[in-house]
Amino acid sequence: MISAKEIAARVEALAREIRVAFAGTDKLVVVGLLRGSFVFIADLVREIDLPLEVDFLEVSSYGNAMESSREVRVLKDLRGEIAGRDVLVVEDIVDTGFTLTHVLAFLDAKKPARLETIALLDKPSRREVEIRATWTGFEIPDEFVVGYGIDYAQRNRNLPFIGKVRFTG
Ligand code: IMP
Ligand code: MG
Repeated sequence: MISAKEIAARVEALAREIRVAFAGTDKLVVVGLLRGSFVFIADLVREIDLPLEVDFLEVSSYGNAMESSREVRVLKDLRGEIAGRDVLVVEDIVDTGFTLTHVLAFLDAKKPARLETIALLDKPSRREVEIRATWTGFEIPDEFVVGYGIDYAQRNRNLPFIGKVRFTG
């Protein structure tokens, strides 16, 4: 669906926008949502020419199934403090919107100075709660995708491109 080359070009453009948006900050914390964002955040932070820290949050959403659970549990909290700091949350896909909504409420309670979000992919046609990332890499149709960190039942995260899963039979 999206080649490694297209992803790289988009990540570079997004990083430029982020650098402008956070210019002058010495307090940026980039928070990756495990596990799907690990490839995206690795590429993204290397293109952001600002002083920053990286932290990770893990929440449960899908298990091995494809149905979004409306309940989101925090499995691994941040290691660092974000009170008074500028925070950029990095997500792989915004689908129904439940995960991002819960994560933002959870992080907002820690009183960051600023809380922005970036999602590599967005499936707007699947949305059940009204939410949008500040920055989006690509809007995609309602297809189940894998690669570039994103899995199906924990497989295919290592694909360098985004591919759609074809379900047979
Ligand atoms: P939401 O809570 O429905 O917005 O779900 C977001 C999460 O569901 C993402 O962070 C992914 O982990 C997962 N997800 C949604 N769509 C896909 C997909 O097409 N492939 C793999 N995981 C997906
Ligand atoms: Mg995820």
